[in-house]
Amino acid sequence: MWGGRFAGGPSAIMGAINASIGFDRKMWRQDIRGSLAHAAMLAHVGVISAQDEAAIRDGLNAIAAEIEAGTFQFREDLEDIHFNVEARLTERVGEAGKRLHTGRSRNDQVALDVRLWVRDAIDGLDAQVADVMRALVARAAEHADTVMPGFTHLQPAQPTTFGHHLLAYVEMLSRDRGRMADARRRMNESPLGAAALCGTGFPIDRHMTAAALGFDGPTRNSLDSVASRDFAIEFLSACAICATNLSRFAEEIVIWTNPYFNFVKLSDAFTTGSSIMPQKRNPDAAELVRAKPGRITGALVGLLTVMKGLPLTYGKDMQEDKEGLFDAAENLALALAATAGMVRDMRPVTDRLESAAGAGFSTATDLADWLVRELKFPFRDAHHVTGRLVAAAEGRGVDLSALTIEEMRAVEPRIHPGVFDVLSVGASVRSRTSYGGTAPANVAAMAREWEERLA
Ligand code: ARG
Repeated sequence: MWGGRFAGGPSAIMGAINASIGFDRKMWRQDIRGSLAHAAMLAHVGVISAQDEAAIRDGLNAIAAEIEAGTFQFREDLEDIHFNVEARLTERVGEAGKRLHTGRSRNDQVALDVRLWVRDAIDGLDAQVADVMRALVARAAEHADTVMPGFTHLQPAQPTTFGHHLLAYVEMLSRDRGRMADARRRMNESPLGAAALCGTGFPIDRHMTAAALGFDGPTRNSLDSVASRDFAIEFLSACAICATNLSRFAEEIVIWTNPYFNFVKLSDAFTTGSSIMPQKRNPDAAELVRAKPGRITGALVGLLTVMKGLPLTYGKDMQEDKEGLFDAAENLALALAATAGMVRDMRPVTDRLESAAGAGFSTATDLADWLVRELKFPFRDAHHVTGRLVAAAEGRGVDLSALTIEEMRAVEPRIHPGVFDVLSVGASVRSRTSYGGTAPANVAAMAREWEERLA
């Protein structure tokens, strides 16, 4: 492919470190798509003949069929997907194949292929995130009034509902979709035609190839076009954030399925056993989703590090963008699929959630708020009095609602039996009607709203 000025061949080590075909073959669809658009444009502007274009088109389509069928011979000595496809094309269609690379370089070709690959990955991941959201929304609608403990510091804080908790993740995931969409919008420009780095003297039509490949237009600077991978970094950053969000949910599933918690059950479909301990049910899928940010954030940091300090324009360093990129997208897809599966599979243990929701003096804030409303306490004083009531209950080893009115009056004489109305878990969640609050009616309405948005 470039042997003209070379007398000897590369050493085996040179071949091994140089080749990317082992991983960039994943971009074969994008490579062929780009070449088809390039050839059509070359014929349109008269750089190649219509017959050559037809031969190239047939040849590329036949190669696509070979790869699809698994009969294509990928050759490491041909370095990468671009050379592999081009060499096979010339093998199949002769002279015409040798004309395909006019007015283009592997530098703009690879920049194009990676962009197309990332764009396809974004579209696939976006559909998967939407699927997880739909699963969460359906469970949230089902459990809008299933009470459970709300935590801060993983300590019992205030009662909430299972539905409200799930909808928190819906919000996070919707921002993940927004980040993916932003990245897609910014990256949707075609670098094809930047050629090696300075553009070309051939009368190519970059607007035509950009439109044919679904881009908003061509990139505006040829040097930037071949030198930049910030679109991939941005995508990886969106992947890392999404994976991080999923990992928090996964960790909660690990906690919730622990028998000491027993908040939810996963079926056999999403648990594994132990080879030695017959009683075990391990939430392996959740643990693996919890672990995925390791490699996904690793890919982000990896590419940032590859690109840091790299002078313009293309450097072979940039070939190192791909493995992490592919791995991150594939593993995020797996994590999303596993999360959707677990959401649909899990069964909340509602009586256990309810009793846990009332434990740990979780309605203490409701009591303090009652003192403010009923007895006109300033909130700070109400907080203090409630703290003393919690201490009294704790001393007796009972919940707040089990204190007698006399015991309460020993702390604050003006307390009357109306206080008991606010100490139940149900009353607590029902009272939190502020916009975005945990009241079951709010949660049901928000679940409906999401159902419509995701329909
Ligand atoms: N395999 C290369 C990569 O992934 C393609 C571009 C090679 N360009 C070059 N001038 N050597 O970056």
